[in-house]
Amino acid sequence: MNEIRPSRPNNLDAFWMPFSDNKYFKGTPRLLARAQGMSYYTPDGKEILDGTAGLWCCNAGHGRREITEAIQKQAEVMDFAPTFQLGHPIAFEAAARVAEMTPEGLDRVFFVNSGSEAADTALKMALAYHRARGEAQRVRLVGRERGYHGVGFGGMSVGGIGPNRKQFGAQLPYVDHLPHTHLPARNAFSKGEPEHGAELADALENLVALHGDTIAAVMVEPVAGSTGVLVPPKGYLKRLRDICTKHGILLIFDEVITGFGRLGTNFGAERLGVTPDIMTMAKGLTNAAVPMGAVAASGAVYDTIVNGIPNGIEFFHGYTYSGHPLAAAAAIATLELHRAEDLPGRARAMEPGWQKAVHALRGLPGVIDLRDIGLIAGIELEPRAGKPGARAMEVFRWCFDHGLLVRVTGDIVALSPPLIVEDSHVDRIFGTLSDAIRAVPA
Ligand SMILES: Cc1ncc(COP(=O)(O)O)c(C=O)c1O
Repeated sequence: MNEIRPSRPNNLDAFWMPFSDNKYFKGTPRLLARAQGMSYYTPDGKEILDGTAGLWCCNAGHGRREITEAIQKQAEVMDFAPTFQLGHPIAFEAAARVAEMTPEGLDRVFFVNSGSEAADTALKMALAYHRARGEAQRVRLVGRERGYHGVGFGGMSVGGIGPNRKQFGAQLPYVDHLPHTHLPARNAFSKGEPEHGAELADALENLVALHGDTIAAVMVEPVAGSTGVLVPPKGYLKRLRDICTKHGILLIFDEVITGFGRLGTNFGAERLGVTPDIMTMAKGLTNAAVPMGAVAASGAVYDTIVNGIPNGIEFFHGYTYSGHPLAAAAAIATLELHRAEDLPGRARAMEPGWQKAVHALRGLPGVIDLRDIGLIAGIELEPRAGKPGARAMEVFRWCFDHGLLVRVTGDIVALSPPLIVEDSHVDRIFGTLSDAIRAVPA
């Protein structure tokens, strides 16, 4: 008989932490035990102001009673029910709520459990769409250098972040990448969308010239977040849209971080004035209280796949937890909060002050670029000679130890606070970060 050993709460060995320096962490743990509103609290009760909405996901702030109660209530009513050949009302309601928020025409919603699953689902939808319309030769997927679409094989391969790929060798075949849009020589210290670089979208024409009609889809983040905040140059996404339309290629926006108010609109597509054919989302969908992601597809994509066969299963894809009742309850409550509190409007109202605070960092030691859009900021530091990433990592630790959570990628500090952020929080975020940048050696 298996023996269940008593738990050992102070032992850090068993949890193999994701995207972490396990050895460092387990020697110097920084733990978060509680969260409320704009802040986390450590196990000994110290407040850590949340400059990153967790991982770009708790847009409505932490510990929202409305969401907690919705999850609790649903757990009592029905813990789980399958959505394969069956349904439960709350999943349909959640999908309808999402469809009310997405850009016009993107009103068919497929539920998944994470941003990574959303990315792979969107890519599979694109392939299935072309096959259903008799263009089965369209098997190529195009991403962008420095893009992040999660860690599934599809998202990893179409993504363009070297370290996330090279450990694993084999990638999806038939994948190409557009150049990234980071042009520091021309666009450094841009406020909002940078002036230069729309022409980078033309690289897609080169890929079409090379591959002909074998490209199924292009997937990009409207604003690339995980790579360290790359805001699209003015006109770039529109040009990408036009080239996709001209050549029958589907455009997929990965809105996992740009969705749900982050750019002052429901989705980045709205703010940036470009509508894709398929859109992925996760994170802010449930305020991260229960894992959930989704893919919104156009009526044309849905109809083509679903009407592609007379009867039977049309799309051989799905997850046990697609539309999980607890996640659906959390999503409905979250989207209701977004509406009732006009969180996108709040983000819009805060943006000018936020932008001013970001660009006030100009001139601090080692700050080589500042970027912002909506309630997002990227602060790029001059790397230490021969030690890329070390300086920003020290800034991250200094901030944490002085009561502020920031996020770093390479030598870029990324900020994305909950959308309930107020002026006093903005002052604290940038005050502590400035002190950290001054305190940490070059
Ligand atoms: C744009 C984008 N896509 C996909 C993902 C992956 O999401 P998840 O970690 O929920 O799989 C992320 C996560 O940060 C993201 O930023």
